[in-house]
Amino acid sequence: MKPQFITLDGIDGAGKSTNLAAIKVWFERRGLPVLFTREPGGTALGEALREILLNPATKAGLRAETMMMFAARMQHIEEVILPALSDGIHVVSDRFTDATFAYQGGGRGMPSEDIEILEHWVQGGLKPDLTLLLDVPPEVSMARIGQMREKDRFEQEEAGFFKRVRQVYLQRAGRQPERYAVIDGSRSPEAVGHQIEMTLDGHFGLNV
Ligand code: TMP
Repeated sequence: MKPQFITLDGIDGAGKSTNLAAIKVWFERRGLPVLFTREPGGTALGEALREILLNPATKAGLRAETMMMFAARMQHIEEVILPALSDGIHVVSDRFTDATFAYQGGGRGMPSEDIEILEHWVQGGLKPDLTLLLDVPPEVSMARIGQMREKDRFEQEEAGFFKRVRQVYLQRAGRQPERYAVIDGSRSPEAVGHQIEMTLDGHFGLNV
């Protein structure tokens, strides 16, 4: 099997951090080479842009925000993702372009055709082989975010924003069910972790 590009996405508070740990354990147990990375981030440039993008004091228009996401992504692809895949290493990214369609598109109203132009320009043919979409209702998300001490620029948004973000994630998953695994993140960590393990087993053909 060629090295796989796997992404984990979902609205804030969906439980990505907990499940990334479960995914790490899954790869360790299987002894498969893997690199974990994140967006925005994953490179020095990407992490610098992340600071700016998540800082509540940052004033950025929607196009500037979207282009910063893609600038970080471009560097991430060239410096981290493609070299790892060509070295035979699987890549797991905490968020990728689905987040741009969901947040800048659904959340903030950027037309998806405009995002598609940037997607094509930056990624060429690169798309995730599998996207694990952690799905929770906005009420669950907001309750979890509410427990955090300091909220970033996106976490400060209201419930309607997260509702629109979630809708776009689910629409995209519905249109391309072969690429997405939608995971109900509102269940117990054990149940969610189990479904993720089963999905990875299935994807890697290890469940027989
Ligand atoms: P997180 O890594 O804690 O999920 O924070 C990243 C934040 O950035 C999250 O609120 C989603 C947001 N984001 C976008 O708005 N667009 C994007 O393309 C990406 C990758 C993230």
